[in-house]
Amino acid sequence: MNQLNHVAIITDGNGRWATRQGKPRQEGHTAGRENFQHVCDWCLELGIRYLSFYVLSLDNLRRDKAELEHIQQMARDLCTGEGLARAKAKGIRLVLCGDRALQTPEDLALYENAEQKTADCDKLTIMFQTYYGGRDEIVKAARRCVEDGVEISEDSISARLYGAAHHTDPDLIIRTGGYQRLSGYLPWESVYSELYFTPTLFPDLSREEFFWACKWYEGIHRTHGGDREPTVAKNATVQKDAPFARKEAANG
Ligand code: IPE
Ligand code: MG
Repeated sequence: MNQLNHVAIITDGNGRWATRQGKPRQEGHTAGRENFQHVCDWCLELGIRYLSFYVLSLDNLRRDKAELEHIQQMARDLCTGEGLARAKAKGIRLVLCGDRALQTPEDLALYENAEQKTADCDKLTIMFQTYYGGRDEIVKAARRCVEDGVEISEDSISARLYGAAHHTDPDLIIRTGGYQRLSGYLPWESVYSELYFTPTLFPDLSREEFFWACKWYEGIHRTHGGDREPTVAKNATVQKDAPFARKEAANG
C-alpha cells in the first residue's frame, strides 16, 4: 500500500458552482474558502503531512480585479486572524510558494508573519501557491543555479523550487471541476504524481470523495518506471468505477 504523504489540490469550479445557483461568482469563492478548511481537516484526519493548494496562477492575473481580490482573500484568510489561530491550534504550518516579488508589501508581510508564527507546527504543512507559474518556477530555479554557480542538474533545480525546504513532489494531485489538465501546476514536481480528476465542483467536494481519492491512490501499483508489473494493482479500483462518477453520469 502506498503511503500518502503529500496531496496537491486544484480547487476548480467555484465560479460555476455559484453561477448554477444564480449567485455571483464571488460567492463560489467564498464557498470554496469554506470547503478548503474541510480539506485541511480531512488531511489531518488521514495523517497526510503536506498539502499543496493552488490559490492563484500568474495566468489568473488576467481575471477581473474584483474576482481576483476574492480569490486572493482565500490565502489571506488562511494566514490572518481566525484562520491563523485555527492553523496554529491544529498544528498546521503555512508556507508561501510563488513569486514573492509580485505580492504587495502588505500581503507579503502578512504571509511572512504566518510563516513565522506557524514555523514550529508539525502536523500538516500547507504550501499555498499564489502568484505561481509552473514554468516560471523552473526558470527561476535554473537562474538561481547560475547565480549560485552550481551546475544545472535535476538535483540542483529541485533544491531551488519554491517548496524545496519542505516537500516538493506530490504523491497525488486532485483537480475538481471536470477538466483533465494541470494548468501549469507543479510541472517539475508532478512527473510521478497520480492524477485524480473529478467533475465535482470544488465547493461540493465531500469528505467521502476526498477519502475515496486517497484510498484509490493507496491501491495503485507504483513503480516509478522501475519494473514491468501491471500499472494498476489487482486490488485497485479504476477511477471510472467511483460511485460519484456513476452518479454524475446518471445526472447527465
Ligand atoms: C477556481 O474556480 C478558483 C481559482 C481560480 C482559484 P474558478 O473561478 O476557476 O471556477 P470556474 O472554473 O469558473 O467554475
Ligand atoms: Mg476554473
